Amino acid sequence: MRPYQIAVCVTILVVLSFIGISTGDTPFTPRGQRWEPAPEGHIIGKDNGVLTGDSGALADHFQGEDCAICHTPGGKAGAYVFSISGTVFKDKLGIEPLVGAEVIIRDVEGKVISLTSNEAGNFFTYAPIAHDPAAGSDPDTPRNWRYKSWVKYGESVRPMVTLAYVGAMAHYIPRMSCNMHHGRMGTRGTVSAGTFDTLAAYPDQNISFAAHVMPILKNRCKACHMPAATNPFTTYGDERFDYSGGLDLSAYAKAPGSSRGITDTINLAQPAQSPLLIRSLPGSLHSGGSFWEIGDPEYETIRLWIAEGASDN
Ligand code: HEC
Ligand code: HEC
Repeated sequence: MRPYQIAVCVTILVVLSFIGISTGDTPFTPRGQRWEPAPEGHIIGKDNGVLTGDSGALADHFQGEDCAICHTPGGKAGAYVFSISGTVFKDKLGIEPLVGAEVIIRDVEGKVISLTSNEAGNFFTYAPIAHDPAAGSDPDTPRNWRYKSWVKYGESVRPMVTLAYVGAMAHYIPRMSCNMHHGRMGTRGTVSAGTFDTLAAYPDQNISFAAHVMPILKNRCKACHMPAATNPFTTYGDERFDYSGGLDLSAYAKAPGSSRGITDTINLAQPAQSPLLIRSLPGSLHSGGSFWEIGDPEYETIRLWIAEGASDN
């Protein structure tokens, strides 16, 4: 599968009630929905934006840019105000677009919206998104809309950790684009997906933490698992949801203030039982989603490094 980097909608929400986790009937809160599987059974791409003007070629323009700078009422493209738009990339630098990725939205009322990225990696829709009365009374204000989102490509699905509120500002912002938050270089919650390999090849012994393991963790995990002082978080009412889960995977030794580090997720006696490996397997409960399968080169490299003693080599 090809590598890709997603620029997707995200984040937050406020909570009326916080019940625990139960799949099937998950409360619409950041915590309640962190492990929710992606919706299924809908028609893929059913909500792709239909071109209304004679400027169809423009659907491929401004990849990775914040579409809503222009696609906003009164803006340069004020005739076309999308409810959701953005770009999906294969690579972290945001150079190669990913064609045919699915962006799935489930709004606070349970409605599923499905978009596919076009030949430029761009996606856009005018599909209405339900608003959360808890957020504000104006249903037309994007920051009152609430949803959870996923990006899917082949067998790979990446959940966005939290629930979006859009245009995270205290005032009215009549615009919305995933790219406004999820920029290139994996910033602000942008996550990489796809079971591609970080390095072209790995040795089958003498694994080095610095040369082999760290690049994998940087590529896949660091967007969320940052040191406590810089970790990404979201707030919803009284709830503060920490994208890092208190786990710092940005260096061998955990940063001051982080409750856990790499060595706290390792089982030296049974390497394959290490949380570092199993939390990222398909089907395991992990807000960050799945990143590898048993036997994948990245999985095997980390497993071997643990079997060899998991040292800071
Ligand atoms: C710098 C301004 C700007 C940015 C940024 C921008 N656009 Fe546009 N877009 C325009 C203009 C101007 C038009 C043409 C509007 C018109 O014809 O009235 C347009 C038209 C379009 C159309 C054609 C609409 C139709 O029905 O004909 C699509 C689709 C589109 N843009 C998608 C996007 C997407 C997706 C993004 C973000 C990845 C984006 N645009 C970013 C300025 C922009
Ligand atoms: C999109 C954000 C995100 C990404 C990317 C991500 N995680 Fe996580 N991870 C979380 C969150 C949030 C938690 C805490 C809540 C939970 O358990 O799901 C967590 C929990 C964990 C835990 C259990 C907590 C602990 O202290 O033992 C492990 C292990 C873990 N992640 C490993 C990884 C690895 C390895 C990667 C990369 C291959 C990764 N994560 C990528 C968000 C992410």
